[in-house]
Amino acid sequence: MKQMVLVSGGAGYIGSHTAVELIEAGYDVVVADNLSNSDMSGVEGVRKITGVDVPFVQVDCCDKEALRRLFEQYEFGSVIHFAAFKAVGESVADPMKYYRNNLLSMMNIVDLMREFGRENIVFSSSATVYGEADELPVTEQTPRKPATSAYGNTKQMCEDILRDAVTAYEGLKGIALRYFNPIGAHPSALIGELPRGVPQNLVPFITQTAAGVRECLSVFGNDYPTPDGSCLRDYIDVVDLAKAHVVAISRMVENKNKAKYEIFNVGTGNGVSVLELVERFEKVNSLKLNYKIAPRRAGDVVAIWADTSLANEELGWRAERDLDDTLRSAWAWEKNIRGIK
Ligand code: NAD
Ligand code: WQD
Repeated sequence: MKQMVLVSGGAGYIGSHTAVELIEAGYDVVVADNLSNSDMSGVEGVRKITGVDVPFVQVDCCDKEALRRLFEQYEFGSVIHFAAFKAVGESVADPMKYYRNNLLSMMNIVDLMREFGRENIVFSSSATVYGEADELPVTEQTPRKPATSAYGNTKQMCEDILRDAVTAYEGLKGIALRYFNPIGAHPSALIGELPRGVPQNLVPFITQTAAGVRECLSVFGNDYPTPDGSCLRDYIDVVDLAKAHVVAISRMVENKNKAKYEIFNVGTGNGVSVLELVERFEKVNSLKLNYKIAPRRAGDVVAIWADTSLANEELGWRAERDLDDTLRSAWAWEKNIRGIK
């Protein structure tokens, strides 16, 4: 019998790509989302790409009774919990909004998994838990630094909630995936990132500038202690990232996990600078981007990239898509949603 997976936040950027990869790997999927940061286009895209009429339930994971009805209706054995707010700046301005949504939805999911005897959970964590690391690349053993935003704090706290819950409760196991910087879109250009308002992240700002929606990209700082003075990040293709979730679920379904709670970095292992990324975007898409050097952005870490040995060895997963192809896919998606030929 096919296993079913609940994808909370599955109408969003990473969740929709993961739903596609799960279906292509033979899983049944049910998507749950309150559409607070997405619309139905993500789910429609998943249906178009896979040819499967994926069930969608509009539900707020903070509403435990509504979530219970979903658990009653669908017999999924595993959950991938993406549903969360993710804007770092907003979380500093309105921390309670972030604590309420991100913690409550996590606790409700875990409670109901216990109540209904559902076994496996993958949690969307983030490289943000490492802060400004003392040594690079970061391994899963690298100490977490005190969070500098409420958002980052919710990721640390949810990791801890998951660790404690799976340790205490029989029949529950979990994997936290620490994503580095997810970018790009599905090769079909039918799903991708849909930022609301002015993009805070680099690649959507680049693609919107190329599309003429934004006038000019500001490169935040060129006086950092890095080879070209701009910050270094580990940009991971969203389809590669999605595939890591499939492997994590399969590991638990097939009882191959080595501990009840495991953590994996999900990145490429390469540090790429902001200026390098801009130049490569221009080159592979044969266009010129309007950009200027601007002051540093408060709160940015100078450099971070992943040691991915654990995911490579234990999950048998590694990032495969070439950065150039990823940057082409980001532009193809932007052109598609803007109707640019
Ligand atoms: P996204 O905003 O596109 O997707 C999140 C989805 O969750 C949205 O569709 C939103 O409507 C939904 N949602 C939010 N709160 C909900 C609730 N209470 N109930 C039901 N649905 C709810 O974001 P994304 O980039 O796809 O991120 C997915 C997850 O990955 C998040 O947990 C995020 O913190 C984490 N993450 C993202 C990044 C990144 O750079 N994109 C990096 C590291 C970790
Ligand atoms: C990347 C680089 C910027 C925009 C954030 C969250 C993190 C995680 C991923 C969820 C930095 C520079 C950016 C711009 C720029 N999310 N930049 N001009 O800050 O590494 O991580 O998203 O977990 O928690 O903090 O990603 O895309 O915002 O920035 O120069 O207009 O691009 O300074 O060096 P970041 P980002």
